[in-house]
Amino acid sequence: MAYSDKVLDHYENPRNVGSLDKSDPNVGTGMVGAPACGDVMKLQIKVNDAGVIEDAKFKTYGCGSAIASSSLVTEWLKGKTLDQAQEIKNAAIAEELALPPVKIHCSVLAEDAIKSAIADLKSKQGH
Ligand code: FES
Ligand code: FES
Repeated sequence: MAYSDKVLDHYENPRNVGSLDKSDPNVGTGMVGAPACGDVMKLQIKVNDAGVIEDAKFKTYGCGSAIASSSLVTEWLKGKTLDQAQEIKNAAIAEELALPPVKIHCSVLAEDAIKSAIADLKSKQGH
């Protein structure tokens, strides 16, 4: 299967790979898996005191499309509020990366990871 140039770019030069300190009260951690293929994605966000995402990191054990999807969303997340981050849809990720139908679930994984990280952060902050 041919990957798009954007997928290859993120796959070969992934942005924001790594981890943030889980014990930081301003850090939310999302961990999701894709039942279809067993790939796993960890996505972390860190908000500042104004509730704006100032940092995002990921670690993905999976296919090129999953790595590219998570790399892309770490770029999109920075500077967004949690409400704006909640609005990121897998369709936008799939469109940006020109994912073929069999790889749509890789972008769903990234959307799920964002929602999971936001939910973790909100529960830590008592919302
Ligand atoms: Fe092989 Fe996702 S199915 S890496
Ligand atoms: Fe399963 Fe990409 S093939 S996440």
